[in-house]
Amino acid sequence: MARVNRSVHGGNIYRVARALACDPGDIVDFSASINPLGPSPHVWKAIASSRHLLAHYPDPDCWELRQALAAFWRMNPDQIVVGNGSTELIDALPRALGIHRLLVVQPTFSEYAAAMRRAGTETTTLYADRIDDYAIPVDRLCRAMETGRSEGRSFDSVMLCHPNSPTGQACTVDDLIRLARSARKRGLWLIIDESFADYCSDRSVLRRAVSWPHVVVLRSMTKFYALPGLRVGYAVSAQTTIRRIQQQLPPWSVGTMGQVAALAALNDEAHARTSLTFMTQERERFRRKLAALPGCTVIPTYANYCLVELPHAHPARDITERLRRKGVLIRDCSSVPGANSRSVRLAVRTRSENNRLLRELSHLLLLKN
Ligand SMILES: Cc1ncc(COP(=O)(O)O)c(C=O)c1O
Repeated sequence: MARVNRSVHGGNIYRVARALACDPGDIVDFSASINPLGPSPHVWKAIASSRHLLAHYPDPDCWELRQALAAFWRMNPDQIVVGNGSTELIDALPRALGIHRLLVVQPTFSEYAAAMRRAGTETTTLYADRIDDYAIPVDRLCRAMETGRSEGRSFDSVMLCHPNSPTGQACTVDDLIRLARSARKRGLWLIIDESFADYCSDRSVLRRAVSWPHVVVLRSMTKFYALPGLRVGYAVSAQTTIRRIQQQLPPWSVGTMGQVAALAALNDEAHARTSLTFMTQERERFRRKLAALPGCTVIPTYANYCLVELPHAHPARDITERLRRKGVLIRDCSSVPGANSRSVRLAVRTRSENNRLLRELSHLLLLKN
């Protein structure tokens, strides 16, 4: 049977556990960037008390969750659509918005181009510069949007990952407003993937998106709320745009446990505060220690991961494989367009897990090839 060609993502602890003949829970996963404090304890209670709902279909409207999200963001529930992870929404966008050619700013999340390929839509590229630490090239992007062309090719939509994965870079709200204005002038769609923006909420334009029908903001409950196994994400835009996305989603795409868990997680402000404080402190400590490893360069980040360039003698693929054999997963970014062959993305995890990775890495970097 022919194998479907899927894009490679982090977080496949199952495949590694099969190869190492161990339990998936024994793998230390730095390749998917999930809140290391785990989900809110309220989530377990909400799941346990909803067991009786398992014998029923989930609410196809995600009514209660949308009400809670609307209250959280102070908007109308009709300006929100919930999907089976933001991945399902990314997949629906080309059909919903009628995208023919999408501009992406590389290096970035591979799923955008993969979703476009599945929909028979093309992708064109603008590269962020390594010399600028991959800062989002806002001026170049505005110019490209105002002409509707990049690398000699036209496009009708732009996808911006913000903060960007794998670089961690984010721009200011003023820059995003400039981008939204340039998009509107040219009649382009602007999709802003804020899956990691819980870590830099002062750089989010989510609440403004409701008055911009040509802008869609994507959010995920996977990362900050640590619910990757339940698959919940949502999109925010003007009601007319949300209706178009909604029409492209299959019924019951978000399960009951995903809905109740997301609701409980969203309402636990104390866990959210603790998570943010932990990340701010531990990310800085981890970043400093990584930068002190011989020959390593760490790109500035606004998210819960760091893009690290390994020393010249150590290709990312090689170090990733050596760590994998020890049950430690990191994200090899050498195949991400625009990143070099020494680039890896490392999630910030608990202090003791980060220390283990630092030890393993410093040992490997001292070895001669
Ligand atoms: C930038 C970005 N957006 C979206 C997603 C998809 O997240 P989910 O479908 O779990 O909400 C990911 C997953 O890795 C991601 O890195």
